[in-house]
Amino acid sequence: MKDEVYRYNDLDPAVEARVDALLARMTLAEKIGQLVQTTPFVMPDPDEMQRVIEQAQQTGQPVQFMQRLRPGLEDRIRAGGIGSIFGINDGATINALQRLAVEESRLGIPLIVGNDVIHGFRTIFPIPLAESCTWNPALLERAARAAAEEASACGTDWIFAPMVDIARDGRWGRIAEGAGEDPFLGAAMARARVRGFQAGGLRSGRRVAACPKHYVGYGAAEAGRDYNTVDISERTLRDVYLPPFKAAFDAGAGSVMSAFNEIAGIPATINPLTLRTILRDEWSWPGMVVSDYEAVAELIQHGVAADLKEAGRLSILAGLDMEMVSTAFADHLAELVAEGAVPESRVEEAARRVLRLKVRLGLFERPYTDETLPAHLILCEEFRSLALEVARQSMVLLKNAGNLLPLAQGGRRLAVVGPLADARQDMLGTWAFFGRAEDAETVLDALRLRLPEDAIFHAAGCPIVGDGPADIAGAVAATQAADVIIAVVGESANMSGEARSRMHLGLPSRQQALMDALTATGKPLVVVLMSGRPLVIPRLAEQADALLVAWHAGIRAGSAVADLLFGAVSPSGKLTTSWPAAEGQIPVYYAHKNTGRPMTGAGALQFAEPFKSRYIDGPNEPLFPFGFGLSYTTFAYRDLRVETPIIGPEDILVVSATIENTGLRPAEEVVQLYVRDLVGSVTRPVKELKGFRRMALQPGEAQVVRFEVPAHDLGFHGPDMKYVVEPGAFAVWIGPNSVEGLEGRFEVR
Ligand code: GLC
Repeated sequence: MKDEVYRYNDLDPAVEARVDALLARMTLAEKIGQLVQTTPFVMPDPDEMQRVIEQAQQTGQPVQFMQRLRPGLEDRIRAGGIGSIFGINDGATINALQRLAVEESRLGIPLIVGNDVIHGFRTIFPIPLAESCTWNPALLERAARAAAEEASACGTDWIFAPMVDIARDGRWGRIAEGAGEDPFLGAAMARARVRGFQAGGLRSGRRVAACPKHYVGYGAAEAGRDYNTVDISERTLRDVYLPPFKAAFDAGAGSVMSAFNEIAGIPATINPLTLRTILRDEWSWPGMVVSDYEAVAELIQHGVAADLKEAGRLSILAGLDMEMVSTAFADHLAELVAEGAVPESRVEEAARRVLRLKVRLGLFERPYTDETLPAHLILCEEFRSLALEVARQSMVLLKNAGNLLPLAQGGRRLAVVGPLADARQDMLGTWAFFGRAEDAETVLDALRLRLPEDAIFHAAGCPIVGDGPADIAGAVAATQAADVIIAVVGESANMSGEARSRMHLGLPSRQQALMDALTATGKPLVVVLMSGRPLVIPRLAEQADALLVAWHAGIRAGSAVADLLFGAVSPSGKLTTSWPAAEGQIPVYYAHKNTGRPMTGAGALQFAEPFKSRYIDGPNEPLFPFGFGLSYTTFAYRDLRVETPIIGPEDILVVSATIENTGLRPAEEVVQLYVRDLVGSVTRPVKELKGFRRMALQPGEAQVVRFEVPAHDLGFHGPDMKYVVEPGAFAVWIGPNSVEGLEGRFEVR
């Protein structure tokens, strides 16, 4: 059925019986083999890499390393020593390796083929952080399904996504891969993406399993430095970082990837609280846990394992089921079982989880991929149009002084300047493994399709980063004959993503100098800002007349920007991370606690001035708040109605309001509902998102939006660490973002 969504975390007796029968025939070595995941190719040695890089520099061709098959891989597959491979998208090679497992190994257990398909496979969508700014789960479900269609057509059975890490620190490069700072929104996006990846009716005739990651707390890395220590309370873990994983599992995800980081001293790879108490005892989740890349071996660096054998013992006993790339399981698990250090039953339990996923995926019936399929599916018009729609809805208009935008298309002479105006590769963003630069449209491409050649003056002005040649004067000269400047600036694709933490979050390199020079021309200045994270841009925000955050928006980035600049559609995106006024504010997020001396309070009068929680050299508030985004029209909010002023802990809160399009253009508004638990048994955030709705309104049209919030959603983990919905008074808001809105009250009894 077309819109069926497969669930991989339900227990089906027929599947269990099949797995039992298989396990009964397996040797210990074959069970261990199922727990081993590797990449089929090895990187060339450093000399070979250097030679290829130098040759690419001389020829101007992209760097392309020869893919060498991992030595001994084929024999290990024939011996049943490998359960999974990943990092490969060539159907013929996948089929060749799969044939070794299915037709030449003793039991014919198929491999499960994984891949990182984070925001599209070959049709690259905007980065996930951008996608989350659509506040449109249904659209994201369609985008995830499109990615699964292409990936499955090229032999992928298992997608290492969605990345559901809550992130409140833009210094962390992987903020690009998630859905921002809020657990409620993050949970909605996690659910949507799992449903999309695990959709039924894929044209490949096969299925894909999702793998939410990185379990858990990875986004709380201290100082925003990737892989750094995570030392958060169990309450924060449960109330902020775990909800998106629970949502992913409730949507049917049957696997999860554990994280690199420690959690308060115990690495996530071996953490009994998260891997056993929460996952198995509290949530009764039967799925399979795969480690992150060599994270088992990294336990030695963490200083909790003396050697690889110890790392393997700790991991398997804590509840890890499959080891990615490092070889603790392959090299030492049999020995550990023989010594009695690891019970065979634990190895069997892990193998069961792997086999259950393979059976549910139908791999035993359909192990091979149809190598003819990609030709007419990859980059098909349906997916390209979808990528454009997601890109349009993901972009966030932060400023539009004097309603400079939208621009009239006719008679315009545009200076299109900045290092990202024609940066094809960077449109793909981070984690676009199988995307290709030649598929991407730049802003310059799209504008040239809409305006005559002599109406566009282009100059890059300076490189994105580094000390390469700059020609800021040339960029200023390009503006001379123009009546509007379109400056396309920001980060390169590889300035965000894994191992891409930044300590300075302004425009990189000499781009601010470029902006200063463009500002000095006095011409109307539209800034199109591309990045993989919230940037710190107080000066740029001052200089821009209009400021459109375009993120790294995928292969249709150019058309989406042009459509918004010329008003084919109104911007509708809203921020899902707070944009700091300065790095010193980080972490800054809307759902913060009030403290005993809030800025809004009286403070303590110890001396002449009241002592409050504030900075003496800047504001507490971010430059742009969570949930913020402008439109080409205006919306009025009125008539808030709390239809259920008193509810019990099992009831539904019903709140409504009227939203009117009071401008002249049709547009979509993301209406948001927040609550505040005014008094709790533990301190509670000053606001929490508990509902949102996209609404399309014609000029002059008014609609009532009605939210129904289960009282259960108002709970938190109390002093005893148990989830509780406490009686008491609540505030509720319906508004356009996290700082504005109509306020009401209700009570839980
Ligand atoms: C990486 C990432 C993880 C990815 C895995 C396989 O290091 O942490 O997100 O899925 O390795 O590429």
